[in-house]
Amino acid sequence: MSRPAKALIDLAALRHNYQLANGLSPNAKNMAVIKANAYGHGAVSVARALQDLVPAFGVACIEEALELREAGIKNPIHLLEGAFSEDEILMASEQDFSLSVVNQEQKQAIIKARLASSIRYSPLNIWIFVDTGMHRLGIQPDELISTYRDLAASANVAGGIVVATHFACADELDNEFTSVQLARMAQGMGDMCAPRSFANSAGLLGWPETRVDWNRPGIMLYGSSPFPSSHPEADGLLPVMTFKSAVIALRDIQPGETVGYAATWMADRPTRIATIAIGYGDGYPLHAPNGTPVLINGQRCPLAGRVSMDMITVDVTDLPGVSLGDEVILWGKGLSVNEVAACAGTISYELLTRMPRRTPREYLNI
Ligand SMILES: Cc1ncc(COP(=O)(O)O)c(C=O)c1O
Repeated sequence: MSRPAKALIDLAALRHNYQLANGLSPNAKNMAVIKANAYGHGAVSVARALQDLVPAFGVACIEEALELREAGIKNPIHLLEGAFSEDEILMASEQDFSLSVVNQEQKQAIIKARLASSIRYSPLNIWIFVDTGMHRLGIQPDELISTYRDLAASANVAGGIVVATHFACADELDNEFTSVQLARMAQGMGDMCAPRSFANSAGLLGWPETRVDWNRPGIMLYGSSPFPSSHPEADGLLPVMTFKSAVIALRDIQPGETVGYAATWMADRPTRIATIAIGYGDGYPLHAPNGTPVLINGQRCPLAGRVSMDMITVDVTDLPGVSLGDEVILWGKGLSVNEVAACAGTISYELLTRMPRRTPREYLNI
């Protein structure tokens, strides 16, 4: 028997979540954001599972896009941070990668690229990103019209330039800032008429006014709600990853005995400790504190002691009948990754995207 730590990836749940996004915004195109190895789920497998449904995939950089092309994915692919060099611009044109333009330097590089002079290349599909308040990337709202005009006039650029922005606080449903960002975008656009793209998962799920021509759902495709509490639409998402392992040791310890590195947990009663084959080397968060829930045979049990590289220890005193080999779920069906992330002082995005290669992914419902 091999080491039981693994991530089961349910591709039917992934497709369900994508269809849920489509249902919320039936007249829009939903680009599936699969950067960072599809948030840790395996970009090629996720792309294969969605390729017949999606109009385009979104990735962060050209390396991620090339991985998909090399695996035979034919859909348009968008590079959300744009191109970092002229070579990347040429390759984007060759490979049907659309490009974000997030500053004036990228605009100039696209206009100057030796694209139209070669028959190997076709004009680029461009998305102009506007900084409406995230203050990370994007041109200023008052630069939008001139930037659009310059790009539209270039032979290197195809028609149908998309204008886009990204929200800072859409996961906070009572935060006015999303409306402020929408107003800044509207002001920047003036009376220009162009396809627009605003919504990430939180926008799509929680802010109907952000659902426009293109949406860019990411985290929701993987079944993790962007919201901290129950939400009528997000509650319909299904977890795609079930991170699981098994009990590999059991021992009884006396009150006053401690468990694990740095002896951070002490028994205050006769205690049964189960050791599970999962650790921070497998993607379980080091900072998960004592009491973080895990599911053993479907029942919640508290973490007891510091997370090791390859093991965790759990107090199973109140769960009779635990045996070697019993199934343990760290997150997934029955225990949300959001809950574990909150215990560990992080967010689901981080736990999912940093899932290491060492953890085997097993795909279900291919
Ligand atoms: C520009 C852009 N659009 C869309 C997304 C998807 O966001 P989410 O995973 O919150 O849906 C991201 C992710 O960070 C992004 O950077």
